[in-house]
Amino acid sequence: MHQTMQEQLAAKAPAHPDYSPGLEGVIAGESAICQVDEGEAGLRYRGYAIGDLAGHSSFEEVAYLLLFGHLPTGTELEEFSDLLRRNRPLPEQVPNFVTSLRPGMHPMDVLRSGISLLGLNDPDAQDGSRAATLRKSVRLLAQIPQLIADSYQVMAGRHPAKPDTEGSFAENLLGLVAGRREGDVGAAMAQALNVSLILYAEHEFNASTFAARVTASTLTDLHGAITAAVATLKGPLHGGANEAVAAMLLEIGRPEHVEFWLRETLTQKRRVMGFGHRVLRQGDARSAIIQRHAERLSDLCGNHTWYQIAATLDRLMLEEKGLRPNLDFYTAVAYLLMGIPRELSTPLFVCSRITGWCAHVIEQQEHNRLIRPRALYTGPATKAYEPLERRA
Ligand SMILES: CC(C)(COP(=O)(O)OP(=O)(O)OC[C@H]1O[C@@H](n2cnc3c(N)ncnc32)[C@H](O)[C@@H]1OP(=O)(O)O)[C@@H](O)C(=O)NCCC(=O)NCCS
Repeated sequence: MHQTMQEQLAAKAPAHPDYSPGLEGVIAGESAICQVDEGEAGLRYRGYAIGDLAGHSSFEEVAYLLLFGHLPTGTELEEFSDLLRRNRPLPEQVPNFVTSLRPGMHPMDVLRSGISLLGLNDPDAQDGSRAATLRKSVRLLAQIPQLIADSYQVMAGRHPAKPDTEGSFAENLLGLVAGRREGDVGAAMAQALNVSLILYAEHEFNASTFAARVTASTLTDLHGAITAAVATLKGPLHGGANEAVAAMLLEIGRPEHVEFWLRETLTQKRRVMGFGHRVLRQGDARSAIIQRHAERLSDLCGNHTWYQIAATLDRLMLEEKGLRPNLDFYTAVAYLLMGIPRELSTPLFVCSRITGWCAHVIEQQEHNRLIRPRALYTGPATKAYEPLERRA
């Protein structure tokens, strides 16, 4: 009988006790940044429960915590927020890159190339010290929103927006990608975006962070490691899932279509985006937090369609597959309600996860050991070499 690659890999595993396909369950290094907690908290950043951070902090506070190792004092937070605001405008070489973009280019490919370009033009490009890596991290955090928004506008045939040096990180980002919103709805949207940025900021050895650490372990520069991380995040089994969830909700269209759609999808053995997790088998604590914001936004906006589709799918997936939603699922509902273009869902993930990636690059390089595992060889047996003229 034909075996899938995964089954073939699994079948080989017992003969090699050290081997786990996809490194599942393998402890691949040490980290003091984030703890995936089996208990009630679900997840902790540098010891703090994710629910406390999402409930009380600004994204700037959490970014500071991840990068500098402790929650900022009032003065530290003010200085850090001011530094981020002052660094928002892009270096003068980058607008040339942005204006050269063409419609149809993938925003994550654009972001990957744009981050490379920011690296070339960074004043600390040749300095790999901890202090310089931190300065580069802060500049990337500050500049990525403008890079994403300008690229998107140009590819849509419009002019880039003027950099705004007022407002919080979340308010600025929301204004850049979805336009300014006033009143209670605007405030609730900025708050929901602030929370989603906190929830997306860090998740220990996920694929993109691990890619960043592998790259950093050669002692290459920060921008190289972040470029690898962006490329890794793009995939639909990782960061690309939030965009895929939005596409799925739009495809389903109405709450009464969910049941039929799900039956067809499961019959065809297709994956339902936004469900399941390699590590969080019992559910994702972050999902319930963003779900509350998605529900509140749907009430405030008077648009219950996306939330109802999502809530129905959530219930049916638990009944049918025993699977619970991950962070991407209700985030997609909140982003649709905010009017964030679907193609920018994964780039927005980068606006947040850049903090976790940079913290990991710094940690890796401070306690470095080159990451170089071994492979289980499954190729042909030993063969005698045949000179070219004797090959049939
Ligand atoms: C995240 C993910 C890649 C984890 O995958 P994994 O650890 O490799 O899980 P497995 O492939 O071992 O899946 C175990 C079983 O659950 C099923 N399953 C897992 N996620 C599923 C999903 N989203 N929809 C339908 N079935 C799913 C698998 O088909 C498999 O069933 P089977 O044993 O009957 O074949 C996977 O759950 C997935 O593809 N989710 C959708 C994409 C997504 O939301 N990614 C964001 C992650 S934060």
